[in-house]
Formats: sequence, C-alpha cells, structure tokens
Amino acid sequence: MPLVVITGANRGIGLELARQYVVDGWQVVATCRDLTKSGDLAGLPGVEVRPLAVNAAESIAAFAAAMRGRAIDLLIHNAGTMGPDPARQSKDEIDVAGWLETMQTNALAPILLTLALKDNLRPGAKVATLSSQLASLAENVSGGLYAYRAAKAAVNMGIRSLAADLADQGIILLALHPGWVQTDMGGPKAPVPVGDSVAGLRRVIATAGPADNGSFIAFDGRRIPW
Ligand SMILES: NC(=O)c1ccc[n+]([C@@H]2O[C@H](COP(=O)([O-])OP(=O)(O)OC[C@H]3O[C@@H](n4cnc5c(N)ncnc54)[C@H](OP(=O)(O)O)[C@@H]3O)[C@@H](O)[C@H]2O)c1
Repeated sequence: MPLVVITGANRGIGLELARQYVVDGWQVVATCRDLTKSGDLAGLPGVEVRPLAVNAAESIAAFAAAMRGRAIDLLIHNAGTMGPDPARQSKDEIDVAGWLETMQTNALAPILLTLALKDNLRPGAKVATLSSQLASLAENVSGGLYAYRAAKAAVNMGIRSLAADLADQGIILLALHPGWVQTDMGGPKAPVPVGDSVAGLRRVIATAGPADNGSFIAFDGRRIPW
C-alpha cells in the first residue's frame, strides 16, 4: 500500500486530498498543527493523524523523528497561508512581520520538511507542493498580494533546486496550482469545487514522470509559465 504524507489536512484542499487518497487505497498520514482542531479529519477512517506546525523547526524535527524508518511514496506540502490582509500586503501598506511569517510557512516549510524527510523518500517518490498561479512572474499583471506571491515564487525556486539536487535519487518534484478553489482561503466566489481540484491534482501527480521533474502545473494539466 503506497504511503502519502499530507500537511495541513484538517480542512480545505488538504482534507479532500486525505479523503480521496484513503478511498483510493493509500496509506494516509495527514498532519494538522492543532490536534484539538482536526475537525472532519479525525473522523476519516483509515487516516493516521499526526501533529505538525510547518512553521516551527522543532515540530518538523519531531514529525521527522516519528516517521523514521517509514518509506514515503508521495509527500504533499499543502499547508499554507494567504498572509496578512490584502490591504496590508499592498502598495499602500506592507506588514513586514506578516510577510516574514508568510515566507516561513509557504516558502521555507516545504523545503525544510522535504530535507527532513529526504531519507524516507523511496526512489521514484514524488514531492508535490501547493504553489499558486499567483506566483507566476510572467502572469502577474494585476499586482497586489506581495507577501503571498513572493512566498509562493520563493518556494517554486526551492522546488527547482531540490529537483536538481534530488534527481539522482529519482525523486520527482512538482509545483502545483490547484485552481481558484472553494475553501476558506479561496472564498465563496471561487469557481472550482474542492473535489474537482483534488481529482485534477491527483491525476497530475499520478501521471508525472521524470521528464516532469521541476515543473509548474495546474490541476487541469496546464503548464504555468514561471
Ligand atoms: N484555495 C485556493 O483557491 C488556492 C489557490 C492557489 C493555491 N492554494 C494553496 O493550496 C493550499 C491549500 O489551500 P486551501 O484553500 O485548502 O487553504 P485553507 O482552507 O486556508 O487551509 C489551509 C490549511 O493549511 C494549514 N496551515 C496553515 N498554516 C499552517 C502551519 N503553520 N502549520 C500547519 N498547518 C498550517 C491550515 O491549518 P489551520 O486550520 O490550523 O489553520 C489549514 O489546514 C495552500 O498552500 C494554498 O496557498 C489555494
């Protein structure tokens, strides 16, 4: 039974990833930063729930220690934050502390956690990070969301470096865009139901091969320009 680790799985896209992978017969280790707020995740039969605050080095170390000796087929860095209120990451105001916290969670955490779990990754394993189309330098013509865009662009660069550095282990790194999705983050106007987004993400992950290592792909298979 293949093993997938999913971060930030107590709601939104992470919860739906856990739900779909367990139904598909995977062994699912789903993480949540506060086990008292694991919500619907706690009720998913067959899912192993573990604590992990991705922005805390000691939490990453504790999670890696708990996973020691277990081979991972798929690691999904899903946990993420929009960062400060959009007005406070705009041309009118920059929340410096909020920007740095956004970098810690969205950019540093996936890199640090991948490195902490490097020895768990089977040859041919995949590491998928929920990035965002908003990270595309080429497609940014609307401005705003400085902290969020910068953090996701930064994680994309980390993914490219890991893709090169771990290629000889046969690991495939992917930066993924889930669409504009109906979650707490996406809000009520989002057009993509979470089930459709996750079905698409799973298809992209399943079909990705070595030639896709280091690619930036949307849930519908579209290649996103960096
Ligand atoms: N929704 C969209 O339209 C959209 C578009 C592009 C990209 N994305 C990306 O897709 C991913 C999932 O988004 P979503 O819409 O499902 O977001 P969401 O509904 O806001 O859920 C975010 C999840 O991340 C967790 N999280 C945040 N900070 C964390 C931390 N420091 N440690 C551990 N967990 C943490 C949250 O846990 P708590 O419940 O404890 O806060 C929650 O489980 C994110 O990386 C997001 O940037 C989403």
